[in-house]
Amino acid sequence: FDQAFADMVALEKGAIANPDENRMVGHYWLRNPDLAPTPELTQEIAQTLEQIEAFAEKIQTGAIHPPRANRFTDIISIGIGGSALGPQFVAEALSPDFPPLKIHFIDNTDPAGIDRILTQLRNSLASTLVLVISKSGGTPEPRNGMIEVKKAYAGQNLEFSQYAVAITSVDSNLDKIAKAEGWLARFPMYDWVGGRTSEMSTVGLVPAALQGIDIRAILEGAKEMDDATRVADIKNNPAALLALSWYYAGNGKGEKDMVVLPYKDSLLLFSRYLQQLVMESLGKEKDLDGNTVYQGIAVYGNKGSTDQHAYVQQLREGVPNFFATLIEVLEDRQSPSPEIDPGVTSGDYLSGFLQGTRQALYENHRDSITVTIPQVNPRTVGALIALYERAVGLYASLVNINAYHQPGVEAGKKAAAAILDLQKSVIEVLQTEKSPLT
Ligand code: PA5
Repeated sequence: FDQAFADMVALEKGAIANPDENRMVGHYWLRNPDLAPTPELTQEIAQTLEQIEAFAEKIQTGAIHPPRANRFTDIISIGIGGSALGPQFVAEALSPDFPPLKIHFIDNTDPAGIDRILTQLRNSLASTLVLVISKSGGTPEPRNGMIEVKKAYAGQNLEFSQYAVAITSVDSNLDKIAKAEGWLARFPMYDWVGGRTSEMSTVGLVPAALQGIDIRAILEGAKEMDDATRVADIKNNPAALLALSWYYAGNGKGEKDMVVLPYKDSLLLFSRYLQQLVMESLGKEKDLDGNTVYQGIAVYGNKGSTDQHAYVQQLREGVPNFFATLIEVLEDRQSPSPEIDPGVTSGDYLSGFLQGTRQALYENHRDSITVTIPQVNPRTVGALIALYERAVGLYASLVNINAYHQPGVEAGKKAAAAILDLQKSVIEVLQTEKSPLT
């Protein structure tokens, strides 16, 4: 394990040195500026954090306001994969009940989905801020979303550039468009921050700050976890324990899927967030020496206790091809909610269901891991994200694969682009020539 730890650190450092080949674990950004490639960048990163906070405050107070309204009321956030799931998870977990700006996500090219959001916002488009988030600045889905949203603004005679914010790598296509059109703001992404580990970069922090979430507390929680997961004593290193559990559960070959059940409504999207982080990082055909290994851990999940009515049947009695991950929120055990039965609250029931599920699995020799947090708050959410990012890095080192690239996803993007190009050329032919097909 010591070797795996050293390998992981070397891989992360290599990722900084060769950002084209690898991608860096994002939770270092801002919190561990020593690892930033140059001292200038370290300073730039610290300034960016201040800029994010200042921007969010100006937007919330109306110091920056749209042309036809006193202040912004809503946000449309356009992005996909790593550029969407972090912000979505954090919004679900931490957005206050009455946020200063309400966030809506476009993370697909489903016309009905986009139309739904634009219809809901029809009467408030003039006070809606648009975040276009894409590290590469060239992914088709966010481009698609951006064009549809732009058209909606044009349809109401609103100048899109006065509502639009780009979060992207400097000089990407998106950055160039934003610069040329004079968008309201541009925030930089860096090559060495991976998409799926970008929650603590501008990708996650800008939308969070705009919703009034304490981003310094998220970063602090992540820093605490970062420190805790650097200790060499495995028994006291939660990320090491997680990575080793995954390793032994799946015989080092990912033979078991990870089933995630947070017992908390606001952590529902943690299951999807982990899908993104774990599957894209660990699902690899080749190891670092070029051998074919077919590694990976499939992740799926939902939430307890709601979904235990389906899951626990399968998990206790079905094919034992998984290990469960139960997320427990300690404060529910002492929740001040009204008593349902004498001395027992809804929170007690929730906690009891989690413990009952764990017991039922244990009795039938099914593995489970319980991750317990005191409550859902910016600090614990920052810590959870950092914990799993580190565990993924360690697991990758244990099985000798690169967690920081995604050749499979790139191949999928290329194949989709080729099909779309073909479709476009067919349409061009149909439109220009009077083809018998028309
Ligand atoms: O983790 C990743 O790198 C991916 O999931 C990307 O975030 C996703 O493909 C979107 O890419 P981009 O941010 O470049 O639009």
